[in-house]
Amino acid sequence: MQIKSLEQYEESYKKSIENPEQFWGEVAQNFRWRKPWYKVLSWNFEEPNIKWFEGAKLNITENCLDRHLEHSADKPAIIWEPNDPEQDSVTLTYKMLHEAVCRFANVLKRNGAQKGDRICIYMPMVPELAIAVLACARIGAVHSVVFGGFSAKSIADRINDAKCKLVITADGVYRGAKPIPLKDVIDDALIGCPTVEKVIVLTHVRTPVSMLKGRDVWWEDEVKHVNAVCEAEEMDAEDLLFILYTSGSTGKPKGVVHTCGGYMVYAGYTFSNVFNYQPDEVYFCTADIGWITGHSYIVYGPLSQGATTLIFEGVPTYPTPSRFWDIVEKHKVNILYTAPTAIRSLMSFGDEPLEGKDLSSLRVLGSVGEPINEEAWHWFDEKIGHGKAPIVDTWWQTETGGIMISPIANVTKTKPSYATLPLPGIQPVLVDENGVEIEGNDVSGNLCIKFPWPGMLRTTYGDHERCRQTYFSTYPGMYFTGDGCLRDEDGYYRITGRVDDVLNVSGHRIGTAEVENAINMHAGVVESAVVGYPHDVKGQGIYAFIIYPNHHQDADLTKKDILQTVTRVIGAIAKPDKILFVSGLPKTRSGKIMRRILRKIAEGETSNLGDTSTLLDPAVVDEIIEAAKNKQ
Ligand code: WTA
Repeated sequence: MQIKSLEQYEESYKKSIENPEQFWGEVAQNFRWRKPWYKVLSWNFEEPNIKWFEGAKLNITENCLDRHLEHSADKPAIIWEPNDPEQDSVTLTYKMLHEAVCRFANVLKRNGAQKGDRICIYMPMVPELAIAVLACARIGAVHSVVFGGFSAKSIADRINDAKCKLVITADGVYRGAKPIPLKDVIDDALIGCPTVEKVIVLTHVRTPVSMLKGRDVWWEDEVKHVNAVCEAEEMDAEDLLFILYTSGSTGKPKGVVHTCGGYMVYAGYTFSNVFNYQPDEVYFCTADIGWITGHSYIVYGPLSQGATTLIFEGVPTYPTPSRFWDIVEKHKVNILYTAPTAIRSLMSFGDEPLEGKDLSSLRVLGSVGEPINEEAWHWFDEKIGHGKAPIVDTWWQTETGGIMISPIANVTKTKPSYATLPLPGIQPVLVDENGVEIEGNDVSGNLCIKFPWPGMLRTTYGDHERCRQTYFSTYPGMYFTGDGCLRDEDGYYRITGRVDDVLNVSGHRIGTAEVENAINMHAGVVESAVVGYPHDVKGQGIYAFIIYPNHHQDADLTKKDILQTVTRVIGAIAKPDKILFVSGLPKTRSGKIMRRILRKIAEGETSNLGDTSTLLDPAVVDEIIEAAKNKQ
């Protein structure tokens, strides 16, 4: 299944376009199915209605666990590296992981979980997080993992949207120097979540927690009451595997739905190919399992291929900015998959943290989550890969389930800041504002995909119309990514960033509307407008223009109050980096905020603001410019 040369890539690509069903049918043979499919693909993008491997039965955990027991039972499946380097790391072999998953699956059943139930997971980056995810999949329950940085309100919204019956959490999480509570946040969230019947709590940081009689149980106690035998539930290829909430340009985050069969095939195939994973290699992805990268390339992709996946709890700079390099050296990591924001942050410490570190085990490097700038690319290439490890700059999205446009390690010639070529099965197109396809090379436009692939989202949970509108209505007959893109003279793709009102802050997707709603909830705020601006480390920073008539009383404190509100409503990741109090916002006569102008001001541009004559009150722009200047 692994592509080894450019010729093989071209051959596979051609085949995947000319005969997609045969191509994916063959790829899918590399997985374990209880019952084969009768049709590889049926689809239309109008509704949309997409089905892969119809009629097939499987359980993804049999592919991630059981099938490796025969030959690789004692191979490490998960290596866990804790936040504190003084503490020992933990290794779980495939046999141990299989047992732990089966045992915890029985705990879920014991607590009333059944096939189809939704289960919210809010946990630190510990092996038990992967175990919880896989245990849900084992019994056919649908997991909804919520990133540990989200607030109680965000969790409650997600739990209620999916009507979760169970929550799996821990007392707290280590992120740097001090433990941060998690169960407390869940307790706050659950005040408004009537569907939740049980909460399973893992002891991790040993902080005091309140345990409600009849609702809350300890992970450690529960596993004592069950055995480690749990037959995997037979799932239809199109049964739900998980929901993952992600931000869009409007309203609340939506629950992106992935299903069992297609997702498994796509995550496994892309993992094996893009990273060119070899048996016995150690693979380290620094993402959090709370994001899609963790789902597809810490848990399901690597485990489906029998790989050793390293899970790290902590941050790149604690206790020192050598942390990643120490981990690479200690575990002889062969493949390192990280984000541009982490690279830029580590770059800023200079060469010292790298001194004396043995990084010679590294064979492949990967980047994901946002465009990687050339400077960061070269630093990664030279200082970390020593010019010998290809960088796979992987473009994809929560909605795509797996990597879409990316070099294949040791196959595709790389080019700084280019995601290069589409993987087999992926048919990207660039379109202009009218949806007309832009052909040829050396062109740019909005990035769409014109044919289904197995890992694509099937719906947005509980609101199929929203899925249609968001992704399939802008350019009829195509999936719209929301990204701008250029195709150079060699046909290489370079993603230039979002063209909608979605920000990418440190690789985290945040909708401007979401941040505005949170700011507007603060008493005293009349209105706000949020835009992104270039940020050296985060990629994009959040700039908020806020109308708050009484801010003069104590502007600094007011700003802190507003940040507190945003932290409460969404989470600390959505806190604006800059706040500017203004007396008005630039609006068209129909009342639409002209973000284009605010974006320019946020970027420090004060002239060339374009046509402002359509504004209701052009004078407001001069006022904002003046205020912005005074601030700097
Ligand atoms: C951006 C993360 C440039 C893009 C897997 C996309 C990228 C959004 C890249 C999805 C890349 C992701 N180069 N931009 N290699 N990878 N993006 O859903 O704007 O968290 O639409 O999925 O991140 O973010 P999400």
